Amino acid sequence: MADSNNPTSGNGSSGSSNGKNGGKVGLLEKVTTGVKDDIQALKTDIPTKAKEQIEGLKDPTKTQVYTSIFRHKHDDTPRNRALGVLSNVFLHLHPAKINRDAVRYSYTWGMGGITFYLFIVLTYTGVLLMFYYHPSKVQAFRDVLYLEHDVPFGKILRNMHRWAAHLMVIGVWLHMFRVFLTGSYKKPREFNWNIGVLLLVFTLLLSFTGYLLPDDQLGFWAVTVGTNMARATPLLGHEGPFGAQLGMTPYNDVRFGLLGGSIVDANALLRSYIWHCIGIPIVASVLMIVHFWRVRKDGGISGPAPVMLTEEADKPRRGPKAAGE
Ligand code: HEM
Repeated sequence: MADSNNPTSGNGSSGSSNGKNGGKVGLLEKVTTGVKDDIQALKTDIPTKAKEQIEGLKDPTKTQVYTSIFRHKHDDTPRNRALGVLSNVFLHLHPAKINRDAVRYSYTWGMGGITFYLFIVLTYTGVLLMFYYHPSKVQAFRDVLYLEHDVPFGKILRNMHRWAAHLMVIGVWLHMFRVFLTGSYKKPREFNWNIGVLLLVFTLLLSFTGYLLPDDQLGFWAVTVGTNMARATPLLGHEGPFGAQLGMTPYNDVRFGLLGGSIVDANALLRSYIWHCIGIPIVASVLMIVHFWRVRKDGGISGPAPVMLTEEADKPRRGPKAAGE
């Protein structure tokens, strides 16, 4: 008699596909076959994949580490070149496309870039000089002598800072001159020209405040003459137009504010130092960021209309328009 509780008994053979038990066995077969297939596939896939990965290691551009950093091929299509620039944190500061003629050295003289480079050199050497210099009447000049004669590489460090400062002033003038010659002060670049004028003023102020810091005779008299001119500032100088009427005296006018006193002395040295190392560099850096950003927003560096090289003009054009132009 068939036991209705026994799963193997009942309505026929255990291999039958009919009924509850037959269904279970069919499923088991399917799973077994599936697992077998998978194992078979793995047996063939694993060696192939391992081989591919070993091959990949031979070519570093195919490794996962490389492709996670450089996400686009550097082949010669305009799209990939643009993507290569845009997806890189450093390169994306540059425009993805530029007018070939605008970046010719004969057009820009590279003077803006050179001026910026000199500013970086000045910042770097300036920070190193700060390790040795104290802005006090007792120590300032001694520190300069110490740098010149005792500090390892001190002389070259000081001279790099000094020469870079001279060159930056020359660079900024030449840059302004070329901007003027190429008419780049005109619309839409007039705002950037004005930022440039401020940069020129701050570059000169950086040099002027640095002049006093060695506390030598040259600096002392340069700053004496320079700040004496401030006496004649309209309204704010005690010798300037309407200064006296506004109550200006040698003890409360703009010159007094610049020197921190009525003579060039310890306070003037300290004020020069703080303006030179902190105040002016910060303002100049912010202005430079605005200046460079503006160059991009105004359509890149100005320049003649784009021209094509002869071999480019002969080449068939790529892109969606090329086929049905
Ligand atoms: C610290 C000073 C300065 C720095 C670092 C600086 C940097 C630059 C750089 C890197 C460029 C890109 C083109 C090139 O290299 O020629 C540029 C463009 C420009 N700069 Fe300056 N610059 C400074 C001062 C000035 C001054 C004094 C002026 C004018 C008064 C000026 C006006 C301009 C203008 C109008 C452009 C756009 C030019 C164009 O599109 O052709 N800049 N500057």
